Amino acid sequence: MQIINLNEAILNGRTSSGLIYVNSDPQVRPGRKDYILGDLMYKGKVVQFRSWDDDVLEILRAHGKGIYRADTLGQEYKSFSYINIRSIDLYVDNAVSEEDFQDCIPQEELESKWTEALEQLQARGLSDACRKLIDDVVNDPELEGRFFTEGAAIKHHDNLIGGLWNHSSKMLRILIALLDNNKELLPSVDLMTFSVVAHDIGKVFEYDALSMSEHWYANHRVRGIEFLVKYRERIIDSYSEQFYRQVQAVIAGHHGEYGDRPTTVAAVIVHYIDSLESQATELLREQEAAMESKFFSTGFGYLESICPDDLD
Ligand SMILES: [Fe+2]
Ligand SMILES: [Fe+2]
Repeated sequence: MQIINLNEAILNGRTSSGLIYVNSDPQVRPGRKDYILGDLMYKGKVVQFRSWDDDVLEILRAHGKGIYRADTLGQEYKSFSYINIRSIDLYVDNAVSEEDFQDCIPQEELESKWTEALEQLQARGLSDACRKLIDDVVNDPELEGRFFTEGAAIKHHDNLIGGLWNHSSKMLRILIALLDNNKELLPSVDLMTFSVVAHDIGKVFEYDALSMSEHWYANHRVRGIEFLVKYRERIIDSYSEQFYRQVQAVIAGHHGEYGDRPTTVAAVIVHYIDSLESQATELLREQEAAMESKFFSTGFGYLESICPDDLD
């Protein structure tokens, strides 16, 4: 049985039959008639589904996240497109697995990007002690190797296997450009590099294989700070308490106006690097997914594509 192509299934009036992956527990919403709402994922594409069918509602409520056989209809309401699930059945074979729905970046590609960025930072003064600390932190057994495999997001930028590692690498490259542009940052290369590496490390606990984890509500900033407590003595011995507190401030404040107010210069700079990296990646992803040269972007409304000719 084929996996449903979400790009086509969401088109208004399109009927499809095949396999779908519900990547988080759906929610029941009250209405004139109660309905169930959630997300379907396929290779980085996430679309909303809804269903008003009693059987669909019961089956999804009972089984939650997972793979199903479904009949769907693409619908549109006030310019918002979604997939209406008209019938559903739990998929019990094992020919298709969750991995078949997830997109991934080859590990060798990620490894070389990461190593290259860290070598360039070493050329700009990153200490051997910091490089060792980074290696130990990302390979900490408590993370079970998931810094290298978890997504950077569930719905948005880098929501693929290896996305967190990729996002962190891309941020290190932007940091390198900033260090070259602003020499006054060079004495803080250890703090800036370690802070970028650690800023989203708590996503290993907030997410679980590209879906929300059981304890998602204690967000990745909180969980990242908690995780790093085990390195407190080592960081204070190698550097100072100030360095350790500065790292904490970056993790707490890196969402800028969308989270706790940043309280240090390092936190604001990492916030800018984070926003530039994640928003440029997200924008290009929206452009790639668009069916026309003019597309709707969540940030700024309608945008014209950067190279409309390439879309033909
Ligand atoms: Fe974050
Ligand atoms: Fe981030």
